[in-house]
Amino acid sequence: MKKAVALMIILVFAFATVAMAGYDDKCAKCHNGKTAPDKAKMLEKSKTAADFVKAAEESKSPMMKSFKDKADELKAAAAELGLK
Ligand code: HEC
Repeated sequence: MKKAVALMIILVFAFATVAMAGYDDKCAKCHNGKTAPDKAKMLEKSKTAADFVKAAEESKSPMMKSFKDKADELKAAAAELGLK
């Protein structure tokens, strides 16, 4: 019984981590000011969440290709950066 409870707790934490994976996990590894513009630069350029998502979708970089059909992830990242 104890083992089952411990397993449940581990599972809940594992799912919570996946659900929270956002800008810092998915984007910041490239958007660090070296490989790609960092947060501050992108916030300079995009004033709204819609701008931000559009800029990401219009990016010519092959590195952004895998995010282009993921508007929900881009929107979540925009929200995380404080854009509305
Ligand atoms: C594999 C590396 C990589 C990852 C991961 C990545 N990006 Fe990018 N991103 C780039 C590169 C490279 C560019 C092109 C930068 C340029 O044109 O100067 C770019 C461009 C962008 C742009 C357009 C910036 C501009 O100024 O026009 C936005 C917005 C953006 N990314 C958002 C995101 C978001 C949000 C995520 C996470 C969901 C993400 N990126 C993940 C590499 C990455």
